[in-house]
Amino acid sequence: MTSIYQKISDHFSQLKTVAIKSLFQSGPDRFPSMTVSVGGLMLDYSKNQVTAETLRLLLQLAEERGVAAVRDAMFTGEKINVSENRAVLHTALRSTRSESIFVDGEDVVPRIQSVLNRMQLLTQKIHSGEWQGFTGKRITDVVNIGIGGSDLGPRMVVRTLRRYWLKSVNLHFVSNVDAHDLESVLSRVNPETTLFIVSSKSFTTKETIMNAQSARQWFLDSGADATDVRKHFIAVTANVDEAESFGVHEANIFPMWDWVGGRYSVWSAIGLPVMLAVGVNHFMEFLSGAHTMDVHFKEAPLERNMPVLLALIGIWNRNFLGYHTLAVAPYHEDLFVFSRWLQQLEMESNGKGVQKNGEPVTCETSPVILGNTGTNGQHSYFQLFHQGTDICPVDFIAVLKPSHSFDKHHAVLLANCFAQAEALMRGADPQKAKEYMLAKGIPAERVESLLKQTQFEGNRPSNMIVMNELRPETLGALMALYEHKVFVQGVIWNINSFDQWGVELGKALATNIHKELTGEAVFEHDSSTAGLIELAKAAL
Ligand code: F6P
Repeated sequence: MTSIYQKISDHFSQLKTVAIKSLFQSGPDRFPSMTVSVGGLMLDYSKNQVTAETLRLLLQLAEERGVAAVRDAMFTGEKINVSENRAVLHTALRSTRSESIFVDGEDVVPRIQSVLNRMQLLTQKIHSGEWQGFTGKRITDVVNIGIGGSDLGPRMVVRTLRRYWLKSVNLHFVSNVDAHDLESVLSRVNPETTLFIVSSKSFTTKETIMNAQSARQWFLDSGADATDVRKHFIAVTANVDEAESFGVHEANIFPMWDWVGGRYSVWSAIGLPVMLAVGVNHFMEFLSGAHTMDVHFKEAPLERNMPVLLALIGIWNRNFLGYHTLAVAPYHEDLFVFSRWLQQLEMESNGKGVQKNGEPVTCETSPVILGNTGTNGQHSYFQLFHQGTDICPVDFIAVLKPSHSFDKHHAVLLANCFAQAEALMRGADPQKAKEYMLAKGIPAERVESLLKQTQFEGNRPSNMIVMNELRPETLGALMALYEHKVFVQGVIWNINSFDQWGVELGKALATNIHKELTGEAVFEHDSSTAGLIELAKAAL
């Protein structure tokens, strides 16, 4: 254990019996001193089991781990994705036109701008009806076919910004190789007026290619000609050759680059569904919100740096308090898909057991991420958060102003959000619970036994991220906040947050098993897998 880890562990031994609520009693300015604001977001990290000394030590850890230097290396296009020998430049996608960012001696900003211009042109053509399908009708529906980062980013942003939909086109998403997904979307659209976006950085992802092939067949079966495919299929990919072999016309291929990771790609042409849904201006606001967070991350001192602080609180909870889960609870129904996007971001980036130098990691890495919108989560799994034997820190996301007009609802929603955070921290006061039950007319002898069941100690940590309004720029800032948080944690754990080798074995085994199911080959398996294959073969 390094000396800073040792120091933090020693500090933890002194702090572990100190209740968070008592830290509020001893520090009346805890709220103002443990909040930080940027880009329309405020982070309140005061309901964590931390003191100023904890933060001082955690900041020292960040400094010793070289967070600032690796951050600067990322922003300037150094190849920090070492296992794939790639730069990591999703931040360049939301930079300003005047910046210059070099990869292998080439300024990438003009290329980014040129793709953005092409995206705008396509959006205008579709919105205006200039782009016509094979029977001369305007496009009414756009189906994004992609998976992982080529699905979750655009799907989540489109869903979150539904107040901004222009209603010119309907957006649909197909990701699963389970064709119930494709079938359900195709049953709702008309081949004459539907545009498919095949989104795949690699253009080799089985699920996406199979869905795209089936969609193309469905399109041709409707009476269209092979030459009509160019009016109904476009592609976003870094593998232009494969997209062309698939049959997408060169003019309809939007490039992306190897320095954009899949789960960081919604800022690239993978975000085309977003631009089509909310228009060019709102898409630009979305990029600019993320850029504001980038500038803050680059320039703010570490002790006032929102992504750094959020990351350090996560490190404290994971590595010192030993909590292995993190829940995200957005109290805004439009953020319904947010936790799914965050799961890929955090778990695919930092779910690693090997350091960059090939040595095993020396401490736990990414927590398991789960979540749902509030108040729904309160009525399913929050029971465990309050009384369960595992402690699960929560990131609450609150939006102060609603975008609906049912004026009584929002105060109830916010009250629930703040109450959950307070209850997790405070626990149930036995005296108050007793008074409450007696006042409700519960007999005294029953109150005593009930008290044992209803008690919980609290001392369960949470962060509260507050925004005034859910707008394109605040969503951009929120997503960039989490991207940079994940980055900082990856640096501290000395892992590569930008590869995902762990998913490869499952893909290879699925290819073999598929060959067995179709009778093309036979492989060795354990008796369970072999038995399951036989069952499926009999049914197929
Ligand atoms: O299998 C994991 C993964 O590579 C993700 O990292 C990625 O977002 C997803 O598959 C889709 O990849 P592609 O965009 O190349 O189809």
